[in-house]
Amino acid sequence: MSSQPTQSFSQRLIAWQKQHGRHDLPWQVADPYRVWLSEIMLQQTQVATVRDYYPRFVAAFPDVAALAAAEQDAVLALWAGLGYYSRARNLHKAAQQIISDFNGEFPQQRSQLEQLCGVGRSTAAAIAAFAFQQRETILDGNVKRVLCRVFALDGNPADKTFEKQLWALAESLLPAQADDMPAYTQGLMDLGATVCKRSRPDCAVCPMADICQAKAQNRTAELPRKKTAAAVAEMPLFWLQLRNAQGQILLHKRPQRGIWAGLYCLPCFDSADEMHRFAEKAGVAGAVRTDTPFSHRLTHRLLQIQPFAADLPDDSALPWADGVWVNPQDLRDYALPKPLMRYLGEAVRQADLFG
Ligand code: ADE
Repeated sequence: MSSQPTQSFSQRLIAWQKQHGRHDLPWQVADPYRVWLSEIMLQQTQVATVRDYYPRFVAAFPDVAALAAAEQDAVLALWAGLGYYSRARNLHKAAQQIISDFNGEFPQQRSQLEQLCGVGRSTAAAIAAFAFQQRETILDGNVKRVLCRVFALDGNPADKTFEKQLWALAESLLPAQADDMPAYTQGLMDLGATVCKRSRPDCAVCPMADICQAKAQNRTAELPRKKTAAAVAEMPLFWLQLRNAQGQILLHKRPQRGIWAGLYCLPCFDSADEMHRFAEKAGVAGAVRTDTPFSHRLTHRLLQIQPFAADLPDDSALPWADGVWVNPQDLRDYALPKPLMRYLGEAVRQADLFG
């Protein structure tokens, strides 16, 4: 890259973004609702996946009023498969906050944006910068990596004091002109995602190559310092797939707290014994089949799922008040946890369910 050594960090980044950054992302618009939605989706999900989900969500809920007025189930159903469902529940609540607390007008200040459910400092800054050209800095994992390398900082990213230093550094680097904020912010994201990658950064095309301290010190592989891996606890789960005489499947809406909060799931138990007691009360104790077990990784848990299945000729004895019977072909209208989608997709493939 042919940046002048005297050019500032922000000048280099803006010039590089305009020439080499991403310009065709569907959420690169000045509409705060769309920017917010995309930023929430992109918090834990890759761009390619969000490109698939985002247009359907916007088509169903084109503005904040439409989202606020929706049923939670409809919001969750459009989120199904993206994971981290608290994002969808918070998005829905935040839309209602905008209607009730901000008169339906999208707030413009970072401090106001941070009051919205699910919006932290970096996401608030991204919305303020993209939609309102405010001089606020983002600082996500990608940006931390860029800063740790360009300035050869070897603090521990999990350390609060070090994080504060990174925020202060990021603020000091902001461009002087507010109207440069969208290109600058996108540049930070693009550089981290496409050039200054975690492994094998592409220093040959980096606009910071001649000022990058990590490159000069040959330390791009060791910076930023690795976080120590969080322990992953194994958690056994026992599912029972009950089918009635019409071939419908019994689901129930999970409580608003805990894993898969608000999603629809099969009857789910902590032990095989508990499942058998339920099956006995439902009158299917002798008919329970054992399906193939499988694992599903959540952020801090490894679920070991053991599914069972049984046909229930007569559901009058069902020991459950709040279940819903769902036709296999209607399952896509329900927000199901990803591993359940996978399991039922295989179990009822003959109905061409998720095809
Ligand atoms: N990751 C987080 N926000 C993003 C955005 N606006 N564009 C691309 N990747 C992102």
